Amino acid sequence: MAIDWSFDILRWIERRRHSSGTAARREGLSPAARSIADRSTVFVSRGLSKIYHMGEVDIVALRSVDLEIHGGEFIVLLGPSGSGKSTLLNILGGLDAPISGEAWFRDHNLVGASEQLLTQYRREHVGFVFQFYNLIRSLTVRENVALVTEIADNPMQPEDALILVGLDQRLDHFPSQLSGGEQQRVAIARAIAKRPDVLLCDEPTGALDYRTGIVVLAAIARINQSLGTTAVIITRNAAIANMADRVVHLADGTIARIVVNERRLAPEEISW
Ligand SMILES: Nc1ncnc2c1ncn2[C@@H]1O[C@H](COP(=O)(O)OP(=O)(O)O)[C@@H](O)[C@H]1O
Ligand SMILES: [Mg+2]
Repeated sequence: MAIDWSFDILRWIERRRHSSGTAARREGLSPAARSIADRSTVFVSRGLSKIYHMGEVDIVALRSVDLEIHGGEFIVLLGPSGSGKSTLLNILGGLDAPISGEAWFRDHNLVGASEQLLTQYRREHVGFVFQFYNLIRSLTVRENVALVTEIADNPMQPEDALILVGLDQRLDHFPSQLSGGEQQRVAIARAIAKRPDVLLCDEPTGALDYRTGIVVLAAIARINQSLGTTAVIITRNAAIANMADRVVHLADGTIARIVVNERRLAPEEISW
């Protein structure tokens, strides 16, 4: 029962944090409440480094990165091409391994985990969204999402996931009958239908025009706020960063700075 209670407190804190959205209100929490909130840390990386060996040349992709990400946060990773954003996201998502350092998901150490454990970790906890949607062309929208829900433990109905991204009117369409933005929203529905703890998005609007990009971002923001799913989004577009709780600026494989937004902008308030 105690566990349920603290879980409820955590949800309450997260909801409150999101509804207030200001650092000032956050500081208003009691020390005990803050310590419970701290226990909601989802990711911790310490001294994370990655080098790619390309023949004679070593390419340093990450240099001793320290980062903590908390449950329910909306994090933007911002930085120029080649700054290490995808490498960091892939390590957090169990798709890649560092050469040194630690990467924790809750109490699971991802570094040194077997391929089997990483596969299980990805399947149970992580939803991925990439720049290109990777939908199966011969399956309908509903079937593309059902592919995932059929193998998950506690999935949503595909229809419910598609309602969250505003595509419940397009269940029986094929990907070729949808716009790029709609296809990306199907990919988001597929990623969240298994109720992952974290949603990791690598340039989800990279192939989309401005208006379409906003609709896609709005879908991610809605999921983050209504389900409490921790979201980490890579972008090279500084305007998107205004939607985040915190913006992690990467440069040349290091975290140059982390900016806390006093107020998260709604996707409709963003222009670029
Ligand atoms: N598989 C790979 N093999 C060799 N070098 C790579 C590989 N993946 C990334 N890199 C290099 O690592 C650096 C960081 O890449 P990446 O994390 O993809 O940056 P970003 O996502 O910020 O553009 C770049 O210099 C890139 O060329
Ligand atoms: Mg990248």
